[in-house]
Amino acid sequence: MIKEVNKNIEQLPVHGVPQDGMEEVFVTRTFLPAVEEIEAKLSSIWKSGILTNNGVVLRELEERLRNYLHAPGLVALNNGTVALQLAIRALDVRDEVIVTPFSYVATVSSAVWEKCTPVFADIDPTRLTIDPRSVEHCITKKTTAILATHVFGNPCDVNALRSIADRHGLKLIYDGAHSFGVKVDGAPITSYGDVTTLSFHATKLFHTVEGGAAVASDPEVVQRLAYMRNFGHAGPEAFQGIGINGKMSEVHAAIGHLVLDHIDHIISSRKGAWLRYRDILAEVGTLQVLNIGPDVEYNYAYFPVLFRAEQEALRVISTLNAQGVYPRRYFYPSLDTLPYCSGQVCPISRDISSRILCLPLFADMDLALVDRIGRAVRDAISKV
Ligand SMILES: Cc1ncc(COP(=O)(O)O)c(C=O)c1O
Repeated sequence: MIKEVNKNIEQLPVHGVPQDGMEEVFVTRTFLPAVEEIEAKLSSIWKSGILTNNGVVLRELEERLRNYLHAPGLVALNNGTVALQLAIRALDVRDEVIVTPFSYVATVSSAVWEKCTPVFADIDPTRLTIDPRSVEHCITKKTTAILATHVFGNPCDVNALRSIADRHGLKLIYDGAHSFGVKVDGAPITSYGDVTTLSFHATKLFHTVEGGAAVASDPEVVQRLAYMRNFGHAGPEAFQGIGINGKMSEVHAAIGHLVLDHIDHIISSRKGAWLRYRDILAEVGTLQVLNIGPDVEYNYAYFPVLFRAEQEALRVISTLNAQGVYPRRYFYPSLDTLPYCSGQVCPISRDISSRILCLPLFADMDLALVDRIGRAVRDAISKV
C-alpha cells in the first residue's frame, strides 16, 4: 500500500489498460548508473562512516555542480520544494508574490506554505512562461517578488522580468526545476534571478534520487541559504537565524556524482529523441511543440505537445495508453484552480493546461520507440 502511495505520479498510468506482455513506457525513465558504480561509491562512504551533515561527498558534488553549471552561488538541498521555500525566506519575501499558474504545484504551494499570497499572472501562449505584461498588471503596493518557472526548461523572458523587478524593487525568484544546464545568451540560466531553484528529483534530467539546490547571486544570500539548510547552525553551539533541515545526504550526493559522470550522454541522447519527435510531428500542421529561441542552449528536458482541443489530447492519451504508453497531462490543472488559491482566473493557462501533453522522453530512448509514439499521435489526431 505504502509502495503504491509513494510511486511517483509521473510514472503512474492515467487510464486505459495495455494488452498483456506489452512493454509499458512512462513519461520518463530515471537514468540509473550501473549498480557496480553505486556499490563502489557506497563502499567508500561506508568506510568513512559519515552518511550526512555536509560530508565530503556532498561538498565535492557541490563543487562539481558549481563548475558544470557555472553557478558559484549553488547550495545543495534535499529537494526542489525546500529550495523554493528557502529562496522565499532568504530573500525575505512576504505579502504578495506574483506567480505563474502554469507550473508544478510546488511552485505555488511553497509560496502559500511560507505565508505569502500568490497573485497569478497569466502566461504567454507561445513560450508557456509567465507573461511580463500580465506581471505588470498584477503589481500592487503589497507585491514583494515575482516567482516564475522556466517551463519545461524553456526560459522565461528573463530580460523583461529583470527590468520589471528592478523598476518596482521586487525580488526575482526562478523555479528552474526543469532547467538544469540551460543557457540564455551564453549565460547560465541560474545567473538571471536573485535566486534560481533546481530539482534533482529522480524524474529530472540530472538527479540525486531526491534532491535540489538554490543558486543565489548575492554572496550574503548564499550564506543565509547555507545556514538555513542546517537548522541555522553557525558552529556546533551557535546559531545564525532560524533554519530547517534541508541537507542532502552523502548517499544522495553519491548518486549525483554518478549521474553527473554521464550528463553529456544523457543530454545528447535526449536531444536525439527530441529532434526525432519534432520531425515526425512537424508533418502535423495543427500541433504546437516547444519553440526554443535562437538565444537558448536547451537541455531537452521535456517534449510537450499542444493539441487543438482537450478532446484531441484525451483521444491521444487513450490511443497511447492502449499501446502501453503513458504521456502525462503536464501541467494540469492550471494552478489558478487550486482550492486554496480561489478567486483568480487565468484563461490562457487554463486553456493550455487542458490540451497539453508531455510525451515520453528519457536518456537512451530507442528511436524506433519515438517513431512508434510519434506515429500513434499522428494517427490519433487524424481520426478526430
Ligand atoms: C516546476 C517544478 N517545481 C518544483 C518541483 C519540486 O521539486 P522536488 O520534487 O525536488 O521537490 C518540481 C518537481 O517535480 C517541478 O517540476
